Amino acid sequence: MTKGLSSMDTRPLGIFDSGIGGLTVVSRILEKLPRERILYFGDTARLPYGNKSPETVTRFSREITRFLLRRDAKAIVVACNSASALALDTLRRELTVEVIDVIGPGAVAAVNRTRSGRIGVIATQATVRSGAYRRALEELRKDVVVHEVATPLFVHLVEEGWTEGDIPERVAHHYLGDLMADGVDTVILGCTHYPLLAPLLSSVFGSSVELVDSANETANALAERLESAGLMAGPDAHGDLTCFASDVPADFARLGERFLGRPLGDVRPVEQTDLPWFER
Ligand code: DGL
Repeated sequence: MTKGLSSMDTRPLGIFDSGIGGLTVVSRILEKLPRERILYFGDTARLPYGNKSPETVTRFSREITRFLLRRDAKAIVVACNSASALALDTLRRELTVEVIDVIGPGAVAAVNRTRSGRIGVIATQATVRSGAYRRALEELRKDVVVHEVATPLFVHLVEEGWTEGDIPERVAHHYLGDLMADGVDTVILGCTHYPLLAPLLSSVFGSSVELVDSANETANALAERLESAGLMAGPDAHGDLTCFASDVPADFARLGERFLGRPLGDVRPVEQTDLPWFER
C-alpha cells in the first residue's frame, strides 16, 4: 500500500445520497478533512430510496457515480444508507476508484463499543430488508445479537423539523419499545437523517445505550482510506463544496443548511443532458 504522506491529490471526492440527508455525512467530512474538494449529488428528483427495490437503487447509484466520475472524482462516498445497503457490491465490483460506504464503518464502531454484544439498528425499510447491517456486524463478531427496526417516519419528522417534543417522542416509543425491551446497549443510527434526532433518541433510550452515528464513523474511515491510498488533498489545498441536485425544491437550501450545519452555497440543478440515464 502506498503511504500518502508526501503525495497529494487535489481531485474532488464524489459523495451522493438520495437527497439532502447525506449532508450530515458531508458535514462530518468537512470537519475531518477541511482541505478536500467535495462534489455532492442529492437525487432529490427520485427520493426516497428507503422504500425502493435493490434493482432501482442500484441503477440510480450507478448513474450518479458515472456523473461524479466524469467530474474527476478520486473516490466515491455512498452517504446514503439505503444505497450502501443495496448497491455497494455492484459499485465496488464495477468501479476502479475507492468506494466508501456508511454501513461498514458504523458496524465496526458498534462492535467496538458494545459490552453486551446486543446491538440495535434503526434504518429505512430498504436497509433493514437488505440485512446489510446484520451481515456486516456478524462478519465482525459471530456471537453478536442484532435487532433491526425500520423507522421510516423518522425521516419525515426530521424533514419537518420535528426533532423534539411530544410527537417525535411518541413515535420513538412506538418504534423502539421492542428494541429497548431486548436489552441492546448500542444502537446504530442507520439512516442519514437520524443524527438530527440523536438528542431525542438519547433521552428515550437512556444513558445505558450508546448511539453510533454512522456519519461520524464514515468520515473517520474515509480519512484513513485516503491517507493509506495516497489520495489526500495535501496541506496547501483549499477545500470547497459544490452541490448538485436532480431537482431543487423551494426549501432545499433551508433544509440543507440544517443537515449541513452551515449555509449550503450554490446548488446546481443537474441539466437533463448531464444525466447518464438519458444516454440509455
Ligand atoms: N438517505 C436515506 C438513507 O440513509 C434516507 C432517505 C431515503 O429514504 O431516501 O437511507
